Amino acid sequence: MDKQQEFFDFINTGNTFKGDFITMGAAMLEGETITNAHVKVPLKTLNRHGLIAGATGTGKTKTLQVIAENLSDKGIPVLLMDMKGDLSGIAKASPGHPKIDERHEKIGIPFEAKDFPVEILTLSEQDGVRLRATVSEFGPVLFSRIIDATAAQSGIISILFKYSDDKKLPLLDLKDFKKILQYATKEGKAEVEENYGRIGPSSAGSILRKIVELEQQGADIFFGEKSFDTDDLTRITEDGRGIINIVRLTDIQDKPGLFSTFMLSLLAEIYSTFPEQGDSDRPELVIFIDEAHLIFKEASKALHNQIESIVKLIRSKGVGLYFVTQNPTDIPEGVLSQLGLKVQHALRAFTAKDRKAIKLTAENYPDSPYYDTKTVLTSLGIGEALVSALDEKGRPTPLAATMLRAPMSRMDVLTQKELDTINKNSELVAKYSEVVDRDSAYELLNKKIEKANEAEAKEKAQEERKKTSTSSRSRSSGRKTQSSTSKALIKVLTSATVIRGVFGILGKMLK
Ligand SMILES: Nc1ncnc2c1ncn2[C@@H]1O[C@H](COP(=O)(O)OP(=O)(O)O)[C@@H](O)[C@H]1O
Ligand SMILES: [Mg+2]
Repeated sequence: MDKQQEFFDFINTGNTFKGDFITMGAAMLEGETITNAHVKVPLKTLNRHGLIAGATGTGKTKTLQVIAENLSDKGIPVLLMDMKGDLSGIAKASPGHPKIDERHEKIGIPFEAKDFPVEILTLSEQDGVRLRATVSEFGPVLFSRIIDATAAQSGIISILFKYSDDKKLPLLDLKDFKKILQYATKEGKAEVEENYGRIGPSSAGSILRKIVELEQQGADIFFGEKSFDTDDLTRITEDGRGIINIVRLTDIQDKPGLFSTFMLSLLAEIYSTFPEQGDSDRPELVIFIDEAHLIFKEASKALHNQIESIVKLIRSKGVGLYFVTQNPTDIPEGVLSQLGLKVQHALRAFTAKDRKAIKLTAENYPDSPYYDTKTVLTSLGIGEALVSALDEKGRPTPLAATMLRAPMSRMDVLTQKELDTINKNSELVAKYSEVVDRDSAYELLNKKIEKANEAEAKEKAQEERKKTSTSSRSRSSGRKTQSSTSKALIKVLTSATVIRGVFGILGKMLK
């Protein structure tokens, strides 16, 4: 048997699955594609996460596009973190190109141009579905992490969350949190400290400064209502295609702290709301994070640990996470070791450091009788990659240098007009742009303080009147003022709206 036939069998036997799968492209040997030696990824192991790596311009984002399209076709919803804003083209069919036809001829899959159902999401004021979360939903643990709170500060934050929960004071935005912090150090100091614990003024001051910093980073736009319901990420069209949700993040790519916080809170919310999947034959949702180094850049060790534990846990909810980045070393070891699918595009060997990275990367791939991984890594063309997936039993499939399919949708971005049309027709845009302006901690505490002041003023006036009529025995009235003030407070508090559930699960999980 000749070498090509042997190789063909090697790839095809290793990529034969009982269940459904997606096809990435065709395997290559010595620079030539072996037509129909298709490289496949079973849907069953897509919740086992993955990595798409390679130098700039080698085809990472297009690989992401190809996988997302194929998942949508299989009825699997997708969430894309689009850092550079270059993925919107998925909503329109590819105009085609002779080079694309040539590519597909070599792969042995006819090229088909088509568009995909897309929803545009945004963290900012840009057009699209607004992604927001309330401070209450963040919960004390995550909220402490965002502002990088010390142990003492976290203690205070926990007290404030507990207090707001007990007193039904919804913490919707940062304004609410600042108000409750201020209240607990002034008007409400005695009340809070008696029942919950001491609020040190210097720690409280530091918390306030950190929140102001967060606001300056622009985080305030992302706290508030209407908070995003993660069920809206798993929508499927009437004809059974998974909706591709694209979060446009162009305006926060220079704010890595904000981005990693957002990612972590979203993953935590997904984790706490999605049901346990058991042994499923397909993922519920697949998330791609383009330019993923941004999540880890400047992230603290604690944040790394949290991302690592969430990556581990979220699998059981049928959610697959795919990191797209230049170098595998951009991803912390603890996360890297959990990634099942690996799509490694070409790496460049310009410097000694590059060569070291190539050696390290090569060592992370299964050995192959057909390749010298290190050599292949530097000689892959654009839109070609070394692929290693997990088979249905969770074992690595044969390593294959792969010529990847071209995206069926447009590789170029949408025009503003095209984007506008999508947003105009979106049900979700309408749902989440609705302005909710209910009373939250800020208003409720203000009212409470006001009423308390009024009650006190009334009491004082009465006292004055008494004083002038009886002119003596006035010493004991201080206590009386107190009790009628608290009565006024209780009345205000019991009429407050009910707070949404605080992230109990997240708290437990992140400890
Ligand atoms: N699978 C593919 N099919 C066809 N062309 C591709 C493919 N992958 C990459 N290309 C070409 O290479 C260019 C760069 O790809 P891109 O995915 O943006 O690179 P990266 O994200 O690694 O910087 C694309 O604009 C496209 O012309
Ligand atoms: Mg890219």
